[in-house]
Amino acid sequence: MVLGVILTFLVLSIWAVTGFVEPISIKGRHFYGSQTNQPFFIKGVDYQPGGSSGVSGGTDPLSDPESCARDIALFQDLGINTIRVYSINPNLNHDKCMTLLAIAGIYLVLDVNSPLKNQHLNRYEPWSTYNELYAEHVFKVVQEFAAFNNTLAFFAGNEIVNDRISAKASPIFIKALVRDMKAYMANHIERIVPVGYSAADDLLFRTSLPDYLQCDEGSGEDTSIDFYGVNSYQWCGKQTMQSSGYDILVKDYENFPKPVFLSEYGCNTIRPRGFQEVETIYSSDMTHIFSGGLVYEFHQEANEYGLIKYDSYGNVRLLPDFHSLRKSFSNLQISYDKGVIEKEINGKKGFLSKEVMTKATACDSEYENIVTDSKLPDNPEIRSMIETGVVSDKGKFVLLTKKDLSSKFKVFDVNNIPYGQATTIKIADSSNQNREEITTISSDSSEKKKKKKSKNVIMKFFFKNDGSEPHST
Ligand SMILES: *[C@@H]1O[C@H](CO)[C@@H](O)[C@H](O)[C@H]1NC(C)=O
Repeated sequence: MVLGVILTFLVLSIWAVTGFVEPISIKGRHFYGSQTNQPFFIKGVDYQPGGSSGVSGGTDPLSDPESCARDIALFQDLGINTIRVYSINPNLNHDKCMTLLAIAGIYLVLDVNSPLKNQHLNRYEPWSTYNELYAEHVFKVVQEFAAFNNTLAFFAGNEIVNDRISAKASPIFIKALVRDMKAYMANHIERIVPVGYSAADDLLFRTSLPDYLQCDEGSGEDTSIDFYGVNSYQWCGKQTMQSSGYDILVKDYENFPKPVFLSEYGCNTIRPRGFQEVETIYSSDMTHIFSGGLVYEFHQEANEYGLIKYDSYGNVRLLPDFHSLRKSFSNLQISYDKGVIEKEINGKKGFLSKEVMTKATACDSEYENIVTDSKLPDNPEIRSMIETGVVSDKGKFVLLTKKDLSSKFKVFDVNNIPYGQATTIKIADSSNQNREEITTISSDSSEKKKKKKSKNVIMKFFFKNDGSEPHST
């Protein structure tokens, strides 16, 4: 009898979940859901607990399912749809964390580099680091993560160009790496994931660097970034579009033909942060050019941009900024000019083939404050690796049990009282929770209307709890 009860309990708790999440693609200067054909605005945070030392031989931000479960429940409570991770170790397994993110409706923007040796370009002497070992690391990351539909995009580099010297040495190497990643995906990967670059927002090369990185050299090879990320800390405290300089920021990217978003934002000189910029970033003052952004950053590091902090046991303490960002996101209505964006994405519906990404414009002979006049570097060993492929498992979604959706860790609020609303991952019923909140402005009239939640089922789950065939819900 007692045994019977225990057995029943065990059977009921084998609760398998797998999911379908729509890949995001690019048309014109916007991201869109490849199944729903709806524009996609990035609403997210940067996630690298431990900072640059948060990756090692044994661990990285997406390798421990227990920590992922703890943090993904908090991501959902914050109301985000995307995280950016700066460094992972491709020799570790990330299947479970990626599946947890997918069922939570959260996408990943992943940098392919790490601070470890042979895993990044040296900005001043990039030729010394553009080698086989480095390329192997990058291709392994690409091969593993391109297989997950919720990998939104890759960053080929982050702030590699950050002063006048690196602006001389690095641009052609970044472009070469973009070329190599794209060639690798064309040869070995089913889904072509967008490749971009995340920039330090320096006025010296604010427009010249993205223009160069997206341009087509006419060599017949694809050497163009598909989108651009801007790390911007210029909106501090209470500002307006004008006083913050965001008006000029937007204007400066008007001629860039591809998507742009803030890959880091959230100035912390005035604390606690109020995140007033959130409303502006997702307003029609910006959404014609910018596709949202990522707040720097989830976990508190020495530079004090955190929303939460772990204690030595891995329990979480929320920081004041967590609440103010959560509030900004929960009040948020994303608004955009429906006419303009629909025109952009209503072209041929395709599944992340090269044709659906935005065409690059031809390269100019010179770019302000950056050096681009030599041929792109080429390395025969890297070329041959692009042909033969690297040995690395492709990622795959895995079955989960109900237990996987929560963690052993505790979450405490700012005042040390247990915070009960983010203990379990909720299964998203559509891949994008912010659909409901999107307000569209039709271009022919200024009348706002609330968009109905999409009826299309874009994510299906299978629950197996009684030994019968899986059924969709
Ligand atoms: C990934 O997306 C493709 C294209 O929409 C779809 O055919 C496939 O079933 C998806 N895979 C998973 C595991 O969700």
